[in-house]
Amino acid sequence: CLPLYQTFVVSSCHQTDILNILANQVSSSSNFLFGTSSSCYQYEGAILSDGKGLNNWDVFTHEAGHIKDGSNGDVAVDHYNRYLEDVKLMEDMGVNGYRFSISWARILPKGTFGDVNMAGIEHYSKLIDALLQKGIQPLITLTHYDIPQELEERYGGWLSSQIQDDFSYYADICFKYFGDRVKYWTTINEPNVMAVRGYRKGTYPPARCSGVFGNCSAGDSEREPFIAAHNMILSHAAAAGIYRTRYQLVNDMKVNFGGVKQENGLRRRLKLENFSWKLLLPSIYQMKRQGGMIGISLDTQWYEPFSNSSEDIAATERARSFYVNWFLDPIILGRYPKEMVQILGSNLPDFSKNDLSKLSYGLDFIGINYYTAKFIKDCLYSACEHGNTWSEGSYFVTTEKDGVYIGQTTEVGWLFLYPQGMKKIVMYMKDRFNNTPMVITENGIAENDNLNPSITDTLNDIHRVNYMHSYLNSLANAITEGADVRGYFVWSLLDNFEWLDGYKLRFGLHYVNYTNLERIPKLSATILLCNETSVQPDP
Ligand code: NOJ
Repeated sequence: CLPLYQTFVVSSCHQTDILNILANQVSSSSNFLFGTSSSCYQYEGAILSDGKGLNNWDVFTHEAGHIKDGSNGDVAVDHYNRYLEDVKLMEDMGVNGYRFSISWARILPKGTFGDVNMAGIEHYSKLIDALLQKGIQPLITLTHYDIPQELEERYGGWLSSQIQDDFSYYADICFKYFGDRVKYWTTINEPNVMAVRGYRKGTYPPARCSGVFGNCSAGDSEREPFIAAHNMILSHAAAAGIYRTRYQLVNDMKVNFGGVKQENGLRRRLKLENFSWKLLLPSIYQMKRQGGMIGISLDTQWYEPFSNSSEDIAATERARSFYVNWFLDPIILGRYPKEMVQILGSNLPDFSKNDLSKLSYGLDFIGINYYTAKFIKDCLYSACEHGNTWSEGSYFVTTEKDGVYIGQTTEVGWLFLYPQGMKKIVMYMKDRFNNTPMVITENGIAENDNLNPSITDTLNDIHRVNYMHSYLNSLANAITEGADVRGYFVWSLLDNFEWLDGYKLRFGLHYVNYTNLERIPKLSATILLCNETSVQPDP
């Protein structure tokens, strides 16, 4: 793959100082990934093309009342048919990475063991080839909120442990057909969001909740999120296990053959340092094995204590445990966070011996989706307001203190500017998880058509350029302080279907005209990578 530096030399723009620093900090022959991010349901459209089965979002968006503007992803931005045009946009920007997700129901229309839809395989294969031809590395997400509807109907989707086998079977197919060319994988996008919104608040499919948490026809908000999350964690583990044992492994050894010293988490974890039998047949293993890295992407919000009181500080740690560490602790450390165990007791499922051995496959990198921050206030001794993330965790989540927001407001209700949180979250992960490699798999900002429908203002998105630069600046500071960050992906390449907000929030570096699907570069697409700027200390 092309080092970032070279990528930018060939573009007409100068690489920014910040990107230079990002690239150079990682290693001298840096292959730091700098790219844009997308997901199949939000982009592809082609709802039933070429043998695709229905997924849970296909069904959910067609039920009245869920999506604010009544829209759906049937056509989305037609990326399925226009992917070559979109790869060209990436080439024009000079990026060297593209994060996208595969539609499970395109590969396995019924979600489970059985016939693989070869038309789906062919589509992604062509996309991967087109990217590689332009020097753009694919980073593939195996599921980005969508699962085949059939699995939902047959056994309740993530609520059933059966999904672990189906997910790992699907993952196996993807590794088999694409892993020769794809070197960066994440298993699940934002399982923490799926668990909270799908099973606690009931705002995402399968829309389950109970009591004061939301208005659903079925569910149990106190227990199901933890069951679904448990199955997501173990599905990650099962897929990672397949990747490690059938596809990835010997690349580590290959790195060693070349004499390149590389501290690798996998080798450490599997205690392979002195493992030698594979060295006997290097050529066979080099032929058979793919190398690459596998991770999982979490929604990370930076949690800031509401005050310096020890109660608020402890509540903030509880909040981190109930959101991000909920997933990363089991996968990296082999257990749930102690705060969750203490507070939830038997509502938190246990890991069996067999589960623990699967969990030991861990991950190679942590995918961080970072946008914004919140204050956390203790409410262990006073009543918690229900509906705020996890009331059992006895903390209260707010974006406001003494009438002042945590950061400048934006056209996105939930997104307050808090660029310094980028460094804070990365340093937090670095300390908690022993500097496991990290990739920023999402970071971005949107224009809101409801507030400002002017196309000229949307195209002239200097606010996005400033946003990116402030967040990248903070990331550069984290890297300077030793954080092992391997890539950064902007959400998003194009305006697209923003879940419950439909098409009104425009996260793209490119504007999409939804009447004819024309793509028009916003200012950010042309200057994001061209602005001369230097890294400043974080406030
Ligand atoms: C997180 C999700 O992964 C992505 O699908 C969504 O569009 C962005 N954040 C913006 O909300």
